[in-house]
Amino acid sequence: MKKEIMQKFVEVFGDAEGVKTYFAPGRVNLIGEHTDYNGGHVFPCALTIGTYGAARKRTDHKLRFFSMNFEKLGVIESSLEDLVPSKEAGWTNYPKGVMWAFGQKGMKVPGGMDLMLYGNIPNGSGLSSSASVEVLTGYILKDFFGFDVTNQDLALIGQYAENNFNKVNCGIMDQFAIAMGKKDHAIFLDTSDLSFEYAPIALEGAKIVIASSNKKRGLGDSKYNERRSECETALAELQKVTDIRSLGDLDEESFEKYQSAIQSDVRRKRAKYAVYENRRTVRAVEALKANDVALFGQLMNASHVSLRDDYEVTGIELDTLVEEAWKIDGVIGSRMTGAGFGGCTVSIVKDEAIDTFIDKVGKAYENKIGYKADFYVVEIGDGPSEI
Ligand code: GLA
Repeated sequence: MKKEIMQKFVEVFGDAEGVKTYFAPGRVNLIGEHTDYNGGHVFPCALTIGTYGAARKRTDHKLRFFSMNFEKLGVIESSLEDLVPSKEAGWTNYPKGVMWAFGQKGMKVPGGMDLMLYGNIPNGSGLSSSASVEVLTGYILKDFFGFDVTNQDLALIGQYAENNFNKVNCGIMDQFAIAMGKKDHAIFLDTSDLSFEYAPIALEGAKIVIASSNKKRGLGDSKYNERRSECETALAELQKVTDIRSLGDLDEESFEKYQSAIQSDVRRKRAKYAVYENRRTVRAVEALKANDVALFGQLMNASHVSLRDDYEVTGIELDTLVEEAWKIDGVIGSRMTGAGFGGCTVSIVKDEAIDTFIDKVGKAYENKIGYKADFYVVEIGDGPSEI
């Protein structure tokens, strides 16, 4: 890929003098969904697919962007003096947002750049193509200008940009999984204090398979913010009767004890989901450590059921993919992953069942939904790097 992106850089920006190339991964979350803004645990991993970047410093303050995924948009020009979100050139708001966020954190970006990107994460699929671009941009800025930031800082800066520049109220999971990714490991992250550990994912005789529903998200982002505020209101109601900082502070028993303080059935379901999912995540990681992959799979399935019935973020596309997956021998666990409302499912599938899985789930999906799903057998990769 390095060669292709360099070639394109030369074609678009003239020559290869001083150009450096980089990569940042996408991510998939194995379990612990919608818990990262509730002070709970998540268990994502970085992928070997992601975003490639070729970049060169400029001597002025100009920014020139080109994406091989959106060639029709051509070169998009901007400048460090004009770091405001733009409607027309949507994707450039991710690198621009990160440049703006560095400035907000006291690290004013001193010079412009030419930036060429190519992503092999399916766009809008819920595998964090945007967080991947954010972390990549931060990594390039650090390399170009010597900013004193760790990879964890890059995750926080990316999230800050997403929240305050792009106005999506996301948690820390995506940027953290990408910035801190480690080959063949998932990250067990406690979002209440960012303490984390790497857990080896050695699935003997099985692989992680991602199915993309190809459903465009549409309303996803506003529903995301809606779930978030439902949880915040439920938390405020619970705080009247018990001393907690977040829903992640509750276990199942204490939730059942205090849940009547929540004044609406809908909010009670949302909060219940968040509390139970957090506990499921902790138990799933324990199961994995004990080599009990079957239990890990059951917890993934239970996660999907509650995302469908309590949190209500799945929809017919994701439910079809998951419910068809559950019918197949050799599927250890299957659930939606990411924000939901479209996007992808993640399944752990025994090697000998992968072809059948792709065939049967693919056919059933197309029959019911009317268009195709895409399947990816993925590997767990490292965080950002110069390539
Ligand atoms: C999106 C957000 C994350 C997280 C997930 C749901 O990917 O960006 O912060 O909340 O949804 O788990």
